[in-house]
Amino acid sequence: MAKNVGILAIDIYFPPACVQQEALETHDGASKGKYTIGLGQDCMSFCTEVEDVISMSLTVVTSLLEKYEIDPKLVGRLEVGSETVIDKSKSIKTFLMQIFEKYGNTDIEGVDSTNACYGGTAALFNCVNWVESNSWDGRYGLVVCTDSAVYAEGPARPTGGAAAIAMLIGPDAPISFESKLRGSHMSHVYDFYKPNLASEYPVVDGKLSQTCYLMAVDSCYKNFCHKYEKFEGKQFSLSDAEYFVFHSPYNKLVQKSFARLVFNDFLMNSSSVDEVAKEKLGPFATLSGDESYQSRDLEKASQQVAKPLYDQKVQPTTLIPKQVGNMYTASLYAAFASLIHNKNSTLAGKRVILFSYGSGLTATMFSLQLRDSQHPFSLSNIARVMDVDGKLKSRHEFPPEEFVENLKLMEHRYGGKEFVTSKDTSLLSPGTFYLTEVDSMYRRFYSKKTKESSLTPAENGVIANGVANGIANGH
Ligand code: ACO
Repeated sequence: MAKNVGILAIDIYFPPACVQQEALETHDGASKGKYTIGLGQDCMSFCTEVEDVISMSLTVVTSLLEKYEIDPKLVGRLEVGSETVIDKSKSIKTFLMQIFEKYGNTDIEGVDSTNACYGGTAALFNCVNWVESNSWDGRYGLVVCTDSAVYAEGPARPTGGAAAIAMLIGPDAPISFESKLRGSHMSHVYDFYKPNLASEYPVVDGKLSQTCYLMAVDSCYKNFCHKYEKFEGKQFSLSDAEYFVFHSPYNKLVQKSFARLVFNDFLMNSSSVDEVAKEKLGPFATLSGDESYQSRDLEKASQQVAKPLYDQKVQPTTLIPKQVGNMYTASLYAAFASLIHNKNSTLAGKRVILFSYGSGLTATMFSLQLRDSQHPFSLSNIARVMDVDGKLKSRHEFPPEEFVENLKLMEHRYGGKEFVTSKDTSLLSPGTFYLTEVDSMYRRFYSKKTKESSLTPAENGVIANGVANGIANGH
């Protein structure tokens, strides 16, 4: 039985195109501070017409394999989490097979998992469970979370974003699962869903989605604490983990969620809550569950009490979600990547709790143990490979008008066929994949930008649907 199964390596990709939230606020006629202070967001990445969830996942998987020098033949399971539906039948995973077919490896299990922002967690659990099971053949698992979050004009639009994350799974990992410590909450609600298959935009009941998210936080935390008590024989409180990482549609919801955990600790009379905090939260002790979600006074008091702990245990996880926006399935793992970026090898010996939420709804809270490991799978090397600062700095800011223009073009193209893109790769770094064409049979064609940026797209490696030509070009 494999031991300490978990994440060996991570890489992240987000598009270089972005729009500042402050500029978007003004453009949309929202009151000053609504997107930046009210939602807590700084900037938002988006896909231009040459990028999509498939190109981003091709980019991030190729990059991970190259940077950690992983032989593609050594991957035995590939799972994708995404809610950005490009094809109702052909999985994104099958597009990624082009990378492996080239090396003669077609013996790779796994397909796509979809349930709003939770698909990435389902994919991750599938891979971890595989490595821990009797079916494991000794090879690596690979998880990809890829999404482009776009909303129709209106209050939800500033909560978009785009990214892809790849995570290599195996035994003796620097980031291992405490597999028994999981608390889930799943139920039937219509808070955010995509019933209109002719549009990329979701139908969203924003207020309901906020309440559902907070209820799921409470329920998962209770179930998690129950499991901890059962298996560890003692009560769990916030002081038993060093960091808490949340699915991050926008930062304000993360602040509110952590405050709910503090309120839960108070209700459980935990030693993590001091006397001053108890006095401040005391008046809310008898509120019913429903009342507690409606109470602005409780929200204010618990956020105030939670602030010092939030700064210590959550703030280091917020960089990428604040800068890139909601990345749906990739959002939680981008928050976790922010923690590794900020704290790298100092995380050794620490427990980190993650909360995954997908509308509809599915949610799980789970626990990771971090330790230092041999190169290339060390925490500091993961931070170095991800190069979060470098990627954030090399982005290109678009004015809101051009962001909106781009969305209009994408609306027009969505579900379309027989078009070629501009093939403009001027913003893309070498090694980035991009969409070149969708033909009369809806088949999608991608190329990879080579290191020789002077090359025209036609001279770059072309990847056709099911046929890999020159995928290694540009090495
Ligand atoms: N300065 C400072 N703060 C401001 C200002 C201002 N000028 N104006 C408003 N605010 C505050 C509000 O008080 C509010 O903060 P609060 O929640 O602490 O009270 C915050 O900014 C947002 O303002 P609202 O009026 O509540 O925003 P609105 O209802 O217009 O939209 C929403 C917010 C519902 C989150 C919307 O963006 C949305 O629907 N997003 C998509 C759904 C979503 O992300 N749900 C989360 C879970 S599901 C998922 O991950 C997809």
